[in-house]
Amino acid sequence: MNTESKRRRKSLARPWLLVLALLVVGVAYSAVIPQTSSADTEMTQQIAEGKALFDVSCSSCHGLNGEGQTTGPSLIGVGAASVDFQMGTGRMPAARAEAQIPVREVQYSQEQIDAVAAYVATFGPGPAVPEASQYEPEGLSEEEIARGGALFRANCSACHGIVGGGGAMPEGKQAPSLADTENVHIYEAIRTGPQQMPMFSKDVLEDEDVRQIIGYLNEASEQPQYGGLGMGNNGPVSEGLWIFLLGIGGLSLVAFWIAKNGARAR
Ligand code: HEC
Ligand code: HEC
Repeated sequence: MNTESKRRRKSLARPWLLVLALLVVGVAYSAVIPQTSSADTEMTQQIAEGKALFDVSCSSCHGLNGEGQTTGPSLIGVGAASVDFQMGTGRMPAARAEAQIPVREVQYSQEQIDAVAAYVATFGPGPAVPEASQYEPEGLSEEEIARGGALFRANCSACHGIVGGGGAMPEGKQAPSLADTENVHIYEAIRTGPQQMPMFSKDVLEDEDVRQIIGYLNEASEQPQYGGLGMGNNGPVSEGLWIFLLGIGGLSLVAFWIAKNGARAR
């Protein structure tokens, strides 16, 4: 082959090389840039819907950008889980700021709550709404549930009572009964620490620990009542109080009656 035809072939190959290079770059580019799929537009729509709800119902206390003000704390970094908990249990939107926001009827559909949660999550990273596999205690063995009971007594019972019946807190506040709380909200309360309650991170209680605690609480609330007064199932303190009130109180009444109406008094 002489050099002349070699050169010709080279110059013929050049445009094809260019086309090929363009193709390669094009394919690589479309693989690298973020896909604007329909899932993404749904996502931005959800966040926009959440923002609209937030501006109307929440910003008066929490600020237009969730920065917080005197009537409500900052929501930067509280995460979607905190919103799902607060709105899903009927605490938010609060009617007014007070020492302990009361639980009211849930004001919004789950879809609306999801939207507000997605919007608040854009303020800053925080705990996400958990998957069912993280909080549903299905399939736990009796030992694991018993371990959940031990974890509950170690971490929670000081405020919520031995079997989660609830208890009083300083300044007229209270740790509520956990008997009717949904599993997802138990998980979220543990991870977000509402109000006086401490926040338990995954370093302190792993997801598996939380699942076991939930398993224990579910079982405790299904426990049959063996007659008599439950007295909050708080053990010796409330039982002692009742005995004191009824027993000593009753005895005093009898003593008074005898003193007034007995044979001597006549
Ligand atoms: C009337 C004022 C008020 C309104 C309206 C209100 N909040 Fe709150 N919010 C509060 C106060 C006060 C607290 C602190 C409550 C506490 O911990 O006792 C709070 C706490 C929260 C928390 C917990 C923050 C944390 O640190 O984990 C979230 C999340 C929240 N609010 C979301 C919302 C959302 C979402 C709305 C609207 C749907 C809303 N709030 C409307 C006053 C308000
Ligand atoms: C220092 C006391 C304290 C400790 C410890 C504590 N909590 Fe709480 N908990 C509270 C208070 C107070 C509230 C009410 C918060 C509010 O009304 O905003 C609460 C609320 C909750 C709720 C929401 C109940 C509902 O129905 O709305 C759950 C669930 C919960 N706690 C579970 C737990 C678990 C599980 C533990 C242990 C891992 C725990 N708590 C440890 C004080 C505590």
